Amino acid sequence: MARPSSALSYAIRLSIALYMVFSFFVFQKAHVVHGPYDAAAELSQRKQEFILDSGRKKGMQLQPSTSKILTELHRPVSQIFINPKLPEWVKTYAKWHAKQRKRYFDDMRANATSDVRFLISRCLTNDKCGGASDRLQEIPYSIMLANQTNRVLLVRWEKPARLENYLVVPEGGIDWTVPDDMFPKEENWHLRGKEDSEHKIVSTIRKDSAAPKFRQYQEEELGGNKIYHEIFRLLFSPSEALTARIQSTMKSLQLNPKEYSSVHLRVKYPVKGIKENDFSFEKHKSQITGWANNAVNCAAELHPNSTIYVSSDNNDTVGYLLEESHFAQHYIDATKHKKHALVVKLVARDYSTENEHVAFSQTTEVDGFMNVFEDLFIMGLGKCVAHGVGGYGRLAAALCGGECVTAHRKHGGNLNVCSDALKDIQRNIDKR
Ligand SMILES: *[C@@H]1O[C@H](CO)[C@@H](O)[C@H](O)[C@H]1NC(C)=O
Ligand SMILES: *[C@@H]1O[C@H](CO)[C@@H](O)[C@H](O)[C@H]1NC(C)=O
Ligand SMILES: *[C@@H]1O[C@H](CO)[C@@H](O)[C@H](O)[C@H]1NC(C)=O
Ligand SMILES: *[C@@H]1O[C@H](CO)[C@@H](O)[C@H](O)[C@H]1NC(C)=O
Repeated sequence: MARPSSALSYAIRLSIALYMVFSFFVFQKAHVVHGPYDAAAELSQRKQEFILDSGRKKGMQLQPSTSKILTELHRPVSQIFINPKLPEWVKTYAKWHAKQRKRYFDDMRANATSDVRFLISRCLTNDKCGGASDRLQEIPYSIMLANQTNRVLLVRWEKPARLENYLVVPEGGIDWTVPDDMFPKEENWHLRGKEDSEHKIVSTIRKDSAAPKFRQYQEEELGGNKIYHEIFRLLFSPSEALTARIQSTMKSLQLNPKEYSSVHLRVKYPVKGIKENDFSFEKHKSQITGWANNAVNCAAELHPNSTIYVSSDNNDTVGYLLEESHFAQHYIDATKHKKHALVVKLVARDYSTENEHVAFSQTTEVDGFMNVFEDLFIMGLGKCVAHGVGGYGRLAAALCGGECVTAHRKHGGNLNVCSDALKDIQRNIDKR
């Protein structure tokens, strides 16, 4: 019986080898807290599980299912419409928008002049528009304005790339796209024209007052009900390429929708002596590490014992939290040395390069900005968000539902101090 058994052992060795190659690539892409030996420990632990029974061992963390991630990412528009918190006008407007948009194209095909009017949120080649959140945060307010002034809201980005590369209209959602031939070249888009004017088109380039106005509307007229994220999702769903990225990251980091929380650190924001153009992590290390540790404390206070997804405009800051901080040491003590229970698990996607800034980057590659949208949606799929300064973290917080949110840094850049999440545990360790 030598033959079958050697064939069997060959098959086992082959599958182990394939698994090792495969896991090497997985760990190249996504970093769970790692040090040189810690990643190895993770690997061998998983390898053992794989060999024993394909990972279905009792007590092993459940892999997030692809379908759960997809369902949350592409929550059907019909479900948003039945949310009792959504005011009637949103539904009325969505229907009206679809009808008017179609009427416009019908008129164009018939060579008739059309009386359909538009409000365009734009970033054309020569516009100065700011980053992703500067441009996107106004959308729910613009929908409200469009409803009140009978305008069809559209969104057009020409730089750094077409928005359609990242965000697409969900099935049955509000179609904001502007095909290249939608308007004649000579059509005047009336930048900053009044929405209630007679102009056929009026357009805006980032409207910073919009998001605060919408928050105020939610507070004063909706009794504090949060619907910002719902309106956002009536227009924007991740593109196929973005969906694939989000899904693969969430699976490899074992993030289940609504079961983890996030921290966002905008450390290059130009306050507290920081200049975006000559920023370096090393130069501001003591300041930044203080912000970063506090941010994790704030997230842990909001959602105790949860996995925390870390993202930042500076990849070295992510690297610091996952490799050097006392949270990293605590993780190693909990998992490798079994000294105590694991209470703060930090995870991040590949941080070997820095996120490009949508406004400042020289990159012209569409893919170069995918990370920006990936982080936004992953944070938006969690339960809570602790954000710092700048609009991006705040947008992520709004997208996760806005109910479980805290600011770890205040508007001017001062800390909102949260208590040390590991202090009690650390005290117990020291006692031993
Ligand atoms: C705007 O909302 C109001 C209130 O629901 C509604 O009566 C009106 O028809 C809406 N207008 C448009 C253009 O959607
Ligand atoms: C619209 O105008 C174009 C160019 O003048 C013409 O070729 C086309 O037949 C017209 N279409 C209709 C529906 O009248
Ligand atoms: C967090 O985990 C620790 C250790 O397992 C446990 O003692 C504590 O009660 C947990 N806290 C919450 C709020 O679940
Ligand atoms: C951050 O990105 C730069 C390149 O953009 C890279 O050289 C550096 O090693 C990265 N930092 C970490 C902690 O991976």
